[in-house]
Amino acid sequence: MCGIVGYIGKRRAAPLLLKGLRRLEYRGYDSAGMAVIDGTLILRKDRGKIEQVDNRHNFEELDGIMGIAHTRWATHGEPNQKNAHPHIDCTGDVAIVHNGIIENYMTLRELLAREGHSLTTDTDSEIIAHLIEKFYTGDLLGSVRKALMQVQGTYGLAIVHKNHDEIVVARNGSPLIIGVRGDETFTASDASAILEHTKKMIYLEDGEVASLRPGRVMVRDLHDKEMKKNHETIGWDLAEIEKAGFKHFMLKEIFEQSESIKNVMRGRLGKKIKLSIKGDIKGCGRVVIVACGTSWHAALIGRYLIEKIAKIPTEVDCSSEFRYRNPLVGPGDLVVFISQSGETADTLAALREAKKKGAKTMGIINVVGSTIARESETGIYIHAGPEIGVASTKAYTNQILALMLLALDLMQSKDGDVDEKMISEIKSLPGKIESVLQEDKRIHAIAREVADHNNFLYLGRGINYPTALEGALKLKEISYIHAEGYPAAEMKHGPIALIDENMPVVFIANRGKGYDKIISNMEEVKARRGKIIAIATEGDNEIKRLADWVIYVPRTADELTPLVNVIPLQLLAYHVADIKELDVDKPRNLAKSVTVE
Ligand code: F6R
Repeated sequence: MCGIVGYIGKRRAAPLLLKGLRRLEYRGYDSAGMAVIDGTLILRKDRGKIEQVDNRHNFEELDGIMGIAHTRWATHGEPNQKNAHPHIDCTGDVAIVHNGIIENYMTLRELLAREGHSLTTDTDSEIIAHLIEKFYTGDLLGSVRKALMQVQGTYGLAIVHKNHDEIVVARNGSPLIIGVRGDETFTASDASAILEHTKKMIYLEDGEVASLRPGRVMVRDLHDKEMKKNHETIGWDLAEIEKAGFKHFMLKEIFEQSESIKNVMRGRLGKKIKLSIKGDIKGCGRVVIVACGTSWHAALIGRYLIEKIAKIPTEVDCSSEFRYRNPLVGPGDLVVFISQSGETADTLAALREAKKKGAKTMGIINVVGSTIARESETGIYIHAGPEIGVASTKAYTNQILALMLLALDLMQSKDGDVDEKMISEIKSLPGKIESVLQEDKRIHAIAREVADHNNFLYLGRGINYPTALEGALKLKEISYIHAEGYPAAEMKHGPIALIDENMPVVFIANRGKGYDKIISNMEEVKARRGKIIAIATEGDNEIKRLADWVIYVPRTADELTPLVNVIPLQLLAYHVADIKELDVDKPRNLAKSVTVE
């Protein structure tokens, strides 16, 4: 995720900013840049690791005692030099760094272009520099306030102007902190970037802007009302902060899901679904979804969603199978490739195969500018932010929601109306995910009781059969315990032979379609003394009769249940692996991006 650092004081800014950027490296990024004021505004930025960008552009040689710097994790526009931050206005006097997403940037971009501004990047962020230029009459803070009144979306911002001895910062939905030590002032999107200089921090709230001068901070709201702020002292050390206090990145990423899921919805969910799909998908007669691993599980859920909502026949294939079986796809087919990394070798080869055959191709991708994103004709970015733990968690939930939006969009393109109730159900997901995360302690306690078993079975039906597959995959990849996922009704065709008191069986057992059948499957397991962990709908007391442990999830639309059900399964896998003292973030033999066949 993008990172911001700023400094104004008495020392040379560039070395301090560079060090701050390095502290933010763990968050993942694709480009880096810096703007320093030294009589004039000096801008250096490029694609690549901080080390590479520094080697090419020599940040260290810059003089000047104030500046801002950024690591970019692309959301709008591929990672390249022009899209890297900072961004400047037409005059080159103003430079901005931005974290977050500007939702109305297309409208603002058109407006600014009509007014004669020359916008040179593909980013949403650049418009902020031009809006400040538009409103600038000598008061930097005032022009930033006016610019931000025009903007819808999220931002953490730091701004410099060549004629001002101040840095202006602002926040709305994207964190920004300020640290003061003597006559030096620091700012950052993440405390780890400035913690070595000071532990005394001011946290900006949404809707606040601040003017930073050496050792002085003035905070106002967007209507220019002065805000009183207190310092808070951080008690954490650096290592803890990088994982935001979580023991592992995987746990942090599981907990981020109530927030990261919002990034798939942002700007896309209204009376109509707005996905900015290039070209026409109206006439598509068949959808084929292709992916590997966890992304393949999301694809299986996508099949249920597209067939049910858009009523278009949909098939799913593993990338490695698709590419070698001479698939019958061609014009009229929409082939969708799902990949968190956007670099998975089998999925990339499958994409090239589908293109050769004349099918329309779409990527559902997390990493902007990755090879699959670039080579697909059109796509949907899932905006989950960098996933550092090898086991995929928050990318999976964002992939599922992106598929839901695709299903609704396909339905809409056939002149169907999007059900308002479904839209409000989708909007309520962050809160529901949050409430499942509150069950963490209880899931930890269950993990303690089951961690010493050698085999697990995961069973689900319909749209939650892939949830069972994903629960089993999460457990096996990080705890090295053998686990199988099955459609629940398949149990009696074989796996039932395995069931005894040493076999925990995890049932996905929400109230709704198929519930009675799942209860019958649970009876069959109980009769053979199997241990049952049930994921059940809040208020279902009946299930306690059969299950040894019940983890409740909130009620939601059938189509959205995979999004709440998978959270306890991720937590269960995590705690089992952690109890076994395994390397949760880097499980043996696995890689985050599988670029070989
Ligand atoms: C499991 C996991 C892998 C990936 C798979 C595909 O937790 O992360 O199964 O899902 O290697 O990777 P992407 O989505 O990057 O194509």
